[in-house]
Amino acid sequence: MPTRRSARPRRPPAPRKRSTRTRPKANRPSVVIVGFGRMGGALALGLQRAGWPVSVFPRSGASLRRAVELGIPIADHDALRDAQVCLFAVPDAAVSTVASQMVLDLGLSTALVHCAGSLDLRVFGDSPIVARRMRGSFHPLVAVSDPRDALQGHAAAIAATGRPLLATLRRMADDLSLLPIEVPEAGRAAYHAGAVLAAGGLVALLSAAVDAFAEAGVPADDALRALVPLSRSALRGVQERGLARGLTGPVPRGDLPVVRAHLAALPPEIGALYRQLSLRALALCGGQLTAETQSALERLLRTP
Ligand SMILES: NC(=O)c1ccc[n+]([C@@H]2O[C@H](COP(=O)([O-])OP(=O)(O)OC[C@H]3O[C@@H](n4cnc5c(N)ncnc54)[C@H](OP(=O)(O)O)[C@@H]3O)[C@@H](O)[C@H]2O)c1
Repeated sequence: MPTRRSARPRRPPAPRKRSTRTRPKANRPSVVIVGFGRMGGALALGLQRAGWPVSVFPRSGASLRRAVELGIPIADHDALRDAQVCLFAVPDAAVSTVASQMVLDLGLSTALVHCAGSLDLRVFGDSPIVARRMRGSFHPLVAVSDPRDALQGHAAAIAATGRPLLATLRRMADDLSLLPIEVPEAGRAAYHAGAVLAAGGLVALLSAAVDAFAEAGVPADDALRALVPLSRSALRGVQERGLARGLTGPVPRGDLPVVRAHLAALPPEIGALYRQLSLRALALCGGQLTAETQSALERLLRTP
C-alpha cells in the first residue's frame, strides 16, 4: 500500500441509498474484502445477495463512497479481527504488500485469500504470522468491468493450503452460482494464460476482425454491431457441441480457393494471425477432411 495513502477506512458519508442485503444465511463465515474496485465490488454485492456476512475495506474516499452508495457495510476494527476470511481484491502487484500490512489488524486465524489468476499462494510470503494461517485463492473467470456485473453462471478457480478453507471457497463459489474448478499450483501461469486468451485474447481477435472489415470499407461501428453477435453464435455452437463440432468456416469445409482469397485480401499482420488460427482450426477438424485436402490446406497456410 503506498505510504502516502492511509489504509484506514474513512468515516462513512451520508446514509445508504439502497441495499442488496438479504437475511444472513446460517453457518456462512464472515468475510472482509480489501479493495472495492471492479472485482471487490462484484464479490461484495454477490456475497451480500447470497446472505454472507460481508464487509469491505476500501482505500480511497471514492471507493468508500461507492461502497456506501451500494449498501455494503464498511469493515471496522472488530470486523477485521473477527473475519474468518479476508479476500484481497487489489491489483496483483499489490497483493503481497497489502496482505503483509493488513495481517496485523486481522484475527490470528483469519484466512488470507487473493483473487488473482496469475498468482500462486507463495505471494503471501512465509513469515510466521502468515504461515500459521490458511491461505487461498478465489479467481472468478469473469471479465468484470463494473462492480454491478453479474458473476453467476461462470467458473471460479479455487486453491487453498488446507481442506477447511478449500471447503469454504467451494461453498462461496456455490452460493455465487460459480462453477468451482481446482488448478494445481504449479500450473498457475499456464492456466492464467489460457484465461487471458479466452477473454482479452478474444477482444484482440475481434479488433483484427474489425480491421479486416475496414479493408472492405465497413465502418468500425457497423463492424462491431455485426461481429459481436457472430462471435456469440460461434461460442453458442462450442458450448452446445464442443470445439470440433462448433467450428464453422472454409477450413472445416476444406475450401482452398476461399482460404487463398482471404490470405490475398488481408494486410500482412492480420494475415499472419489468420494463418495461425486456421492451422489450429485444421488441427481440430482435419480428421473430417480427405488427407489430400488436409495437406493442401496445411501447405497453403504454412507458405507465407
Ligand atoms: N476485473 C476482473 O475482470 C477480474 C477478473 C478476475 C480476477 N480479478 C482480480 O481481482 C483483483 C482486483 O482487480 P480489479 O479488476 O477489481 O481491479 P480494480 O478495479 O483496479 O480495483 C482494485 C482496487 O484495489 C484498490 N487498491 C489499489 N492499489 C491498492 C493498494 N496499494 N492498497 C490497497 N488498495 C489498493 C483500489 O482502491 P481505490 O479505488 O480506492 O484506489 C481499487 O479499488 C486482481 O487481483 C485481479 O487480477 C479481476
